[in-house]
Amino acid sequence: MGIGLAAPALILGAPGPAASAEITLRTLAAARGFRIGASVSSSALEKDSGYQDKLKYEFNSVTPENAMKWANLEATRGQETWGKADAIVDLATQNNQMVRGHTLVWHKSLPTWVTDGTLSTDELRDALKQHIQKTVKRYAGRVAVWDVVNEALNDDGTLRQSIWLQRLGSGYIADAFRWAREADPSAKLYINDFDAEWATPKRDGLYKLVRDLRAQGVPIDGVGFQTHTLIKDPIPAALPLTQLQDTLKLFAGLGVDVAVTELDIRVKLPSDADKLAAQAETYRRAAAACVGVSRCVSLTVWGFTDKYSWVDSGVPGWGDADLLDRSLQKKPAYAKVQSVLADRDFAGTVTALHSGQCLTMPADGRRLVQSSCTNGQDQKFTFQRVATKIYTITSGGKCLTVDGASTAAGAAVSGRACVAGKPEQQFELRPVGEVGAQDYRLMPTHSYKSVAVKGGSTANWAPVEQAQYLSSTTPPTQVWRLSGVPRQP
Ligand code: XIL
Repeated sequence: MGIGLAAPALILGAPGPAASAEITLRTLAAARGFRIGASVSSSALEKDSGYQDKLKYEFNSVTPENAMKWANLEATRGQETWGKADAIVDLATQNNQMVRGHTLVWHKSLPTWVTDGTLSTDELRDALKQHIQKTVKRYAGRVAVWDVVNEALNDDGTLRQSIWLQRLGSGYIADAFRWAREADPSAKLYINDFDAEWATPKRDGLYKLVRDLRAQGVPIDGVGFQTHTLIKDPIPAALPLTQLQDTLKLFAGLGVDVAVTELDIRVKLPSDADKLAAQAETYRRAAAACVGVSRCVSLTVWGFTDKYSWVDSGVPGWGDADLLDRSLQKKPAYAKVQSVLADRDFAGTVTALHSGQCLTMPADGRRLVQSSCTNGQDQKFTFQRVATKIYTITSGGKCLTVDGASTAAGAAVSGRACVAGKPEQQFELRPVGEVGAQDYRLMPTHSYKSVAVKGGSTANWAPVEQAQYLSSTTPPTQVWRLSGVPRQP
């Protein structure tokens, strides 16, 4: 994810968690080339305009929760019912959202004419092929990703004794991927499962399966981790999903994309502030796990509001698993996910608020100055994230540096060669004033003083120094406006 120091790229983004209060998940995800998704309930979509709005503004990817399952597309043989699936795909297209198609081959949600044993093996195989190809072709170009095979494994890592394994043999998996590829060569094809997010026998089985399928040339592009999770009751000291990032990296090592496809984190009802805080922390961990792995291309929540979660009926006594509450208001988990998405590298100009002049990088080893804004390369700075809210600040390959790691007020701030891990080259971006605005203090992490123009000068070429932190001055002489912060569209 890092930006090369030698050739800083201009990337628009948000500097840190605090800047994001009014910025939607979708905006933040888009700014970093990431997909944040939600499953969509057809019935909620039909009746609830508040739900529609949240879906539209918060997410840039959608997954039909049930509408594309075979039982809902062809309950009676030969009578196809595409209405609900079409409605979701049409709306997503209109809203410029990606669609993850879910799901082509599963042992659940099958029409009875498929499961009742009346079809011969050849007929069953043909029916599956037709189902896959009809569905994928119908949405070719509009559904970018398919969960082709869902939940194919047992807990012990062996193949599940589904109707597909029993009747068609283990080759059904490779066949399904090949049929889907034939129907839409441009769609990304995933295998998707649960309880493979940490080191389980199932994870081993899935790993070997994907590795072997790839070795045989089976067109499998990605692995989806459902990530249905819970906060145990009482709340344990160790929260779940500690191994999710390792798992994502492990599978990415096979040369496939990975995704979190059905994230929800239920709590024992009734929920309370402590449970929701533990849930929020676990959401943070899941989001950070994914955005920290370059091949983790999307994170989808399974239901985005407690108002319509499958958990209520699926797991009685448990619930409140989602980012928004039953009134579509943001829960603590929302802010955590938002701050993870906001926390990224970015670049732009750095303007002294009191003078309107631009921070300017001089020749190597020289002190920084403010000077009239020219749009020149010496006024473009890359903020490269080191840790939450902590960044290096570079221009032309040189790092903003407090000379000699001095902790004294008045120490010069110069452009020096970047050396990893030097706190005098790392700055906390502390937001000033209104949250969501573009104004920050730049605070060297070895001193926690403030980068400022010497003496609060408004003069052209006035030098920049490390100043004693002043909590407020008028005009604000220790505040910098960062142009790289995205605004609400
Ligand atoms: C669930 C839906 O959320 C429910 O509405 C439905 O009754 C059953 O299926 N893994 C999956 C999803 O891959 O398709 C499931 O969705 C949840 C578990």
